[in-house]
Amino acid sequence: MIGKVAIVTGSSRGIGKGIALDLLKAGAKVILNGRNEERLQTTQALLKNTSDDVQYFCCDVTSPEGAKQLIDFAIQSHGRLDILINNVGVSSRGNVVDSDPEVFERVMNSNFMGSVKPTIYALEYLKKTKGSLVFISSVAGIRGLPGLAPYCASKMALRSFAESIRIEESKSGIHVGLIYVGITEIEHNKESISADGSPVVLDDRSGKKAQSISYVSKKVLKNIKRRKFITTLSFVGVLNAFLQPRFPMLVERLIIRSSKKFKEKSK
Ligand SMILES: NC(=O)c1ccc[n+]([C@@H]2O[C@H](COP(=O)([O-])OP(=O)(O)OC[C@H]3O[C@@H](n4cnc5c(N)ncnc54)[C@H](OP(=O)(O)O)[C@@H]3O)[C@@H](O)[C@H]2O)c1
Repeated sequence: MIGKVAIVTGSSRGIGKGIALDLLKAGAKVILNGRNEERLQTTQALLKNTSDDVQYFCCDVTSPEGAKQLIDFAIQSHGRLDILINNVGVSSRGNVVDSDPEVFERVMNSNFMGSVKPTIYALEYLKKTKGSLVFISSVAGIRGLPGLAPYCASKMALRSFAESIRIEESKSGIHVGLIYVGITEIEHNKESISADGSPVVLDDRSGKKAQSISYVSKKVLKNIKRRKFITTLSFVGVLNAFLQPRFPMLVERLIIRSSKKFKEKSK
């Protein structure tokens, strides 16, 4: 990865920050992204302890202007783009029956359109470098889960988007990767969107069985190095990915049986 130019969307905190750190360790030049400039500055200062090759571009990737300016910033700064990691995402909580329809729009806009827009502007540059386009999905994107309908739908949409690009660009040499991430540790005060649209602060996950951010970011780098399509993380993710296409009714019954435990875990 030495000298490669990488953009990680939504990297001022959480998983994106972890991926940015590992890319820097591997010798890449990294552009961080987020909407809060102060947070970006703090993260940049922290990552500079690892490498000076870290810049940031503050914008909302769900706006076409923001997404285009982010890609242009990489090209103006380095003249090339090798890796785009679409990591921006927000989760949701609540059953469909209780949901304000606008919650679906907000989640789709963030998780799906927030990946579509940077991708459209990045493709011409990734083609030149035969680079990597990676989508950070979730094990909740393998099948619909209770209490997470907007989130599951948005992450599932990434799958078909990635599949279309893989075929369209099969001759251009671009690598397209999709990472199904399992429940992962979160930074303090991470917010989700509740069914009525109000923000809800998620519980810290220190006592629960959650993957570490560093485990996830190492798997993302491995996906890029091996130019794999799908990387599925966590035991539940791997089991679900295996069973779902073969025995969907069995998976549904298992989820109904464990839905109370499941709700507790995803708080
Ligand atoms: N944590 C988990 O358990 C888990 C499990 C499976 C999948 N994932 C996926 O992993 C990804 C990262 O999750 P996380 O837990 O690390 O989230 P997080 O801690 O909430 O971090 C989200 C990052 O994205 C930025 N961001 C959000 N919306 C943005 C936008 N529209 N434009 C630019 N930046 C934006 C945030 O900064 P600002 O708010 O300042 O913009 C922040 O840097 C998401 O796609 C998520 O769905 C997470």
